[in-house]
Amino acid sequence: MKKPIRLGLIGCGGIVQITHARAYRALTDTVQITALADVVPENLQKIGDMFDVPTENRYADYREMLAHAALDVVTIATPHSLHAEQVIEAANAGVAVISEKPMATNLEEADAILAAVRQNDVPYTVVHNYIFTAGMRVAMTELDALGKPHFGRSTGMGLKPTDFSADHPTPAFAWRASKAKGGGCIIDTSYHEIYSVCTLMQSPVRYVEARVQTMHLDIDVDDIAMLLCEHENGGITTVAGAWCVPGTDSGWCEMHAENGSLRVNHRHNVADALRRFTRAEGWKQLELPEFDEAERTDASGHARYFRETFNALAAGAAVPVSPEMAYHNLAIIEAARKATTERRAIEILSPSEQRS
Ligand SMILES: NC(=O)c1ccc[n+]([C@@H]2O[C@H](COP(=O)([O-])OP(=O)(O)OC[C@H]3O[C@@H](n4cnc5c(N)ncnc54)[C@H](O)[C@@H]3O)[C@@H](O)[C@H]2O)c1
Repeated sequence: MKKPIRLGLIGCGGIVQITHARAYRALTDTVQITALADVVPENLQKIGDMFDVPTENRYADYREMLAHAALDVVTIATPHSLHAEQVIEAANAGVAVISEKPMATNLEEADAILAAVRQNDVPYTVVHNYIFTAGMRVAMTELDALGKPHFGRSTGMGLKPTDFSADHPTPAFAWRASKAKGGGCIIDTSYHEIYSVCTLMQSPVRYVEARVQTMHLDIDVDDIAMLLCEHENGGITTVAGAWCVPGTDSGWCEMHAENGSLRVNHRHNVADALRRFTRAEGWKQLELPEFDEAERTDASGHARYFRETFNALAAGAAVPVSPEMAYHNLAIIEAARKATTERRAIEILSPSEQRS
């Protein structure tokens, strides 16, 4: 039998304790959590005790972990401003990296990440979990039959607390509201809506118009993001995100094509995860037959994302979310910010077009 992948965790906070932990528990044959790093001792202890990680393998400094623990892969789940530095250090230590979104806070950092993972020849991927939800995976099997997509729209709305202070009882709110930590609505929340709608449109974005602004909350990052994107296949999409409006229907994503439409509800129960419209049938709720119970009820998609990613790493195969996909998502976000300040459409060039 093959030995399990030796996994180190950098960051043991909210998303790891709730969602990643559930995914790891379902993967005990494939993955063994070998070492942990976090600057908050309580978080280190919580995850360490949950996965029986020996105390000598629990580190306050992730660099110490990389230097001393025998690891094959690390997952990074820390505030956004730390991702680039931590991915690069891990790549230089020769381990594969699974990073939570976003890849980095800007494209300059993203370029440095790509250079480091190429130079060290280590696999690298970013968590785009929404395309692994049951609804989205079935939606992707419908795309061919629906023909050429012309219009997509995607929304994620909600109310964040107005108290974003650094001593907020939930520190995850404090860093998300800080420019220095790489926070903001577009890069934190709308991030998912952007790659979701791009997936259904089956085409990269070429031009972005946007307003990414601070409308309501007393913070130094955006709390609202409205994007109008033109895709390379000529399709148009809108993405709407907000931290300052009541979220009546949470997050969803639609795609309208020549032969019909799809609507995927994110963060939703399975009962209404996916609907399809055709002229013959009207709107119809689709069954999600190919999923076992654990994955059908995995609203965030993390369980399936981690399973497919670790299986790919174990087999030496390509990871399902490529670095290029994560880079493109960040390029759209950077273009949206630029479109806001310059009040014009911004063209997105691929890295190879930028070089030429
Ligand atoms: N894919 C998703 O659906 C999803 C959902 C939530 C969060 N996330 C992502 O996960 C990441 C973490 O978010 P969160 O909600 O868990 O935040 P969090 O604040 O709850 O957790 C962050 C953790 O990082 C630790 N940390 C901070 N500095 C560190 C350092 N230098 N070294 C090691 N650990 C350090 C903190 O102590 C904390 O335990 C972010 O990138 C976020 O965007 C993704």
